[in-house]
Amino acid sequence: MRKIDIFDTTLRDGEQSAGINLNTAEKLEIARQLEKFGASIIEAGFPASSPGDFEAVQQIANLVKSSTVTGLARAMKSDIDTSWNALKGAEEPHLHLFLATSPIHMQYKLQKSPEQVVEIAVEAVKYARKFFPLVQWSAEDGSRSDPDFLVRIINQVIQAGATTINIPDTVGYSTPQEYGALFKYLKENVTGIERVKLSAHCHDDLGMAVSNSIAAIENGADQIEGTINGIGERAGNAALEEIAVALHIRKDFYHLETGINLNEIKRTSQLVSQLTGVVIQPNKAIVGKNAFAHESGIHQDGMLKNRQTYEIITPELIGEKTEPLALGKHSGRHAFKDRAISMGFALTEEKLNEAFIEFKKLADRKKEISEDDLFVLFTERQIEYKDVPIYKLESVQLQYTTDNTPTATVSVLVPNGHSVTVSAAGSGSVEAIFNTLELLVNDEVHIRDYRVTSISKGRDALGEAVVNLSINGQVSIGRDVAQDVLEASAKAYLNAINRQLIASRVGLQESVN
Ligand code: KIV
Ligand code: ZN
Repeated sequence: MRKIDIFDTTLRDGEQSAGINLNTAEKLEIARQLEKFGASIIEAGFPASSPGDFEAVQQIANLVKSSTVTGLARAMKSDIDTSWNALKGAEEPHLHLFLATSPIHMQYKLQKSPEQVVEIAVEAVKYARKFFPLVQWSAEDGSRSDPDFLVRIINQVIQAGATTINIPDTVGYSTPQEYGALFKYLKENVTGIERVKLSAHCHDDLGMAVSNSIAAIENGADQIEGTINGIGERAGNAALEEIAVALHIRKDFYHLETGINLNEIKRTSQLVSQLTGVVIQPNKAIVGKNAFAHESGIHQDGMLKNRQTYEIITPELIGEKTEPLALGKHSGRHAFKDRAISMGFALTEEKLNEAFIEFKKLADRKKEISEDDLFVLFTERQIEYKDVPIYKLESVQLQYTTDNTPTATVSVLVPNGHSVTVSAAGSGSVEAIFNTLELLVNDEVHIRDYRVTSISKGRDALGEAVVNLSINGQVSIGRDVAQDVLEASAKAYLNAINRQLIASRVGLQESVN
């Protein structure tokens, strides 16, 4: 069966989404999971863009073994040199070079003639091939480029040594018919196209990223690029889990393989959502909370008679656990540890103890603990942050009546190790908490967005709070969970502040070294 390679760019194009700012520990955790998910290629970042990106790409390149690791680079020697330093430890070093080819990008952004663009692309590919066995070249804004110019430049970059050619629909402008026709045209007109991999990279501005990717496959693409949950610049990228499941469920029609471990989809999607703070819309295909919920009586009746009446995908296919978790408040440490291992977590004894204490507290208050609850509990402890002193919530107390202004009193362990208690009022309970916490942080904080959702089902479900704030103009997203949404909100606020502290501390260490 024909194989389609899945190129995951969650850590590069996905991380370019407004407000997302993952640190190295979180990127490593996502990369580990993407390897289990079965991505053929993981784009770990853009090494020349910042010391943080360089560090993350280097560590991921050294860690990941069964997926190829790549990094993005502009068509310039300094980017290629930096990328080589980051990627040389990889099993199979791969570089992703890009250069714009559309008239509007060449004229206004690059201010270069088409001839100069061809020359720069060829030089960059030749230079990159001195180091990298695998070089992907992307024609940025390819879908709005002149197809004959594309043929001309691709002929030359293949001769220069490119091993993959990618044609992005950078601004999500194409329609499936147009994008498919462009792939067909390139297949028929580029010399040596059969010697390289042809790749599609679609953005979702018009909601057609997945359809465009499938149209490219139907017209000869060997590789599809996208992100988990479709996160990315503006409206995002093609959602890889949707493409993988579509090709699987309609194998009768497409006759294609992706090599994706479908039962890792749920876990991968949850992890990306948890660490990026980007909430998944409930009706999102494949991974939305309601993707397998049957509400209407007629549908439920049909499901009881024969599930296939209304169910084309089972939750089990994507690794969703439907049977109750055999863990509760009487479970012992041993069973808890076994569960962590079977869920793929490798926690130190200290972290496992911490998680177990938290689990016992939760089990006392919550009737049924779900695997989703455990997943959050374990993930939080699996990630090893650098040893940076941070803020820790000790307690939060609220005074609230419908007729009075709410007041919050919060005790926090501050980075110098002291416990500080402060109080402030606000027009609502959450505002009172945020105003109180702001007194502790000697910086200007603005709340950009704030959301609370439930992790699992039922009235005693854990609440997850996501706070998107800016500290002195720097955007940071924080998230945390607790059974009480006000406690979750306070913890999420501090998490955003801590993430900024960690990021600035890492940057400081890097500039000192
Ligand atoms: O959308 C795009 O054009 C890109 C390139 C850098 C490949 O992300
Ligand atoms: Zn892109």
